[in-house]
Amino acid sequence: MTDYEYPAALTHDLSREELLNHLQNRLDDARFQHCLRVEEAARQLATRFHADVDRAGLAGLFHDYAKQVPIADYKRVIMEDGFDPALLQYGRGVWHGMVGTWFIQTEVGLTDRLVLQAIERHTTGDPAMTLLDQIIFVADFIEPARTLDAEVAARAAALTDMRQATFIELKNTLQYLIANNKIVYPKTLLTFNAFIPKEG
Ligand SMILES: [Fe+2]
Ligand SMILES: [Fe+2]
Repeated sequence: MTDYEYPAALTHDLSREELLNHLQNRLDDARFQHCLRVEEAARQLATRFHADVDRAGLAGLFHDYAKQVPIADYKRVIMEDGFDPALLQYGRGVWHGMVGTWFIQTEVGLTDRLVLQAIERHTTGDPAMTLLDQIIFVADFIEPARTLDAEVAARAAALTDMRQATFIELKNTLQYLIANNKIVYPKTLLTFNAFIPKEG
């Protein structure tokens, strides 16, 4: 794994060592290693599709920063910090994107709007996902430890077509949620609709 350094403007002068310390304070080793792989995958995709490699890498690195924040802490932040109370009916799978960025801003101090947006959108998707947003969404799904059929298919699609790779992931996510009687965040369905390949 390469020790990438990020521009001071994106990290507010935090060194890589300081960034990794923040991650390790919040994540067990398996999740931390996943974040390093997503960082690498995101940088590769950004290079391939001419997106911002530093923003992609930093967003990939921090995308799951809040994945293991205790549920009680999430509920408190949702109720006390201006989030829609309707979010309470979802779980950490949704929260660690859109509420996760609250923890990243508060505890790490990252503020870059585009980095935070990509992290925000990585759990639910968004019909207006930018290329950078799609890169983080897909990098999470195709990092090298992912080997399911849909993950392999998305990895192949991501060689040439990020919208197609995003669509494969959205379809897989919705199929999984429905098959397991799990609640669907409505925006994920809207995102699926927006990413259906155009015919002809
Ligand atoms: Fe995640
Ligand atoms: Fe992840």
